[in-house]
Amino acid sequence: MDAAIFKKNGEIAKQSMYIEEKSIKGDVISVIFSLKEEIGALAKALRLFEEKGVNLTHIESRPSRLKNGQYEFFIDLDCKSISSLEEILLTLRKDISGTVHELSRDKIKDTVPWFPRTIQDLDRFANQILSYGSELDADHPGFTDPVYRARRKEFADIAYNYRHGDDIPRVEYTEEEKNTWSIVFQELKSLYPTHACHEHNSVFPLLEQYCGYKKNNIPQLQDVSKFLQSCTGFRLRPVAGLLSSRDFLAGLAFRVFHSTQYIRHASRPMYTPEPDVCHELLGHVPLFANPSFAQFSQEIGFASLGAPDEYIEKLATVYWFTVEFGLCKQNNEIKAFGAGLLSSFGELQYCLTDEPELRPFDPEMTAIQKYPITSFQPVYFVAESFEDAKEKVRKFAAGIPRPFSLRYNSYTQSVEVLDSIKQLNNLVDNITGEMGILYHALKKFE
Ligand SMILES: [Fe+2]
Repeated sequence: MDAAIFKKNGEIAKQSMYIEEKSIKGDVISVIFSLKEEIGALAKALRLFEEKGVNLTHIESRPSRLKNGQYEFFIDLDCKSISSLEEILLTLRKDISGTVHELSRDKIKDTVPWFPRTIQDLDRFANQILSYGSELDADHPGFTDPVYRARRKEFADIAYNYRHGDDIPRVEYTEEEKNTWSIVFQELKSLYPTHACHEHNSVFPLLEQYCGYKKNNIPQLQDVSKFLQSCTGFRLRPVAGLLSSRDFLAGLAFRVFHSTQYIRHASRPMYTPEPDVCHELLGHVPLFANPSFAQFSQEIGFASLGAPDEYIEKLATVYWFTVEFGLCKQNNEIKAFGAGLLSSFGELQYCLTDEPELRPFDPEMTAIQKYPITSFQPVYFVAESFEDAKEKVRKFAAGIPRPFSLRYNSYTQSVEVLDSIKQLNNLVDNITGEMGILYHALKKFE
């Protein structure tokens, strides 16, 4: 049962006082209500359910524990529509019943995978990694280097112990690590003016100015995270190892990007078989400072919350072909915005040649495209713009089967489940306020 329903039950329990028990009956929704003292009250209550097409599978009456001589009614419902149920309960509370207490909605609970409700819930992922960051594959350039492996464990431990709200520990990078960064930084920077999208190029000087982006310095995640927060509310969070797609995407829903902090092995500065700090800082970070791109990334993450497994795979594929390997149109040219491209000297050049196949970005088709992970991509998808891509992802997300709607509350950095009339009223209030601001701002242009 979700927190919103728990909270609501808490409020109802305060009003009704005398309902104390919990009823768990598998996929049935159970409600207890008492009636005002008037003739025909029970018939009126039952008609409510009939009119909304809600089937009562069980009803029983019992003497009230509050008022002698009165009765309360216990019912089980087979209800497919949350909104119908909300309407019925609202009318019941307002017009007919003395008290109403909803006991269980376990059918809904059991069909929706767990997802974080608050930004603090992301702490749970720290202990749910698929493999620890110090475990290297046999073909990794650092596999036989005990010093590198020990260093990787240091980084993994920092991330493992990190909790939301902490400053990201600063790292004293070695001369060898800084040298690796220097090679990658200089090579890539020479390509950006001609190959990167203008959003990337416009943010890059700011990162040099405020975050220590330069050839002989590896920027600190904490400084970069603070900068991003001031631009778009995005923040970095160190990650100890590989996260599942579901967990990684959920982070984006809260504008949190899980970032590595270690650097690739010094023996092959232009190659890494996995994300490293060069990939995150040079590829991802500049775009997360752009409001449109930040919103686009959050939309993909938001669509993943509570989604069935097959849709997680589709969203992870959409993420792959956009945030990692996306191309976009700009001034009649094609430019790169994917971090996998912007952090790879070889693929950044290759992607803009005639060799790969380019297709228009369409989430329905993009989501089912197969792709290699160890070689250059044979197919890229081209977005018209971030705004256009965002709208398309929104439409795609609307088709994901979920028995509720969600809204992100940026004040509390939490996800609200819109499953009650009260929640919808709050949303209407907010939109009305925003519309008022828009109206008055437009009037000033007349
Ligand atoms: Fe990445």
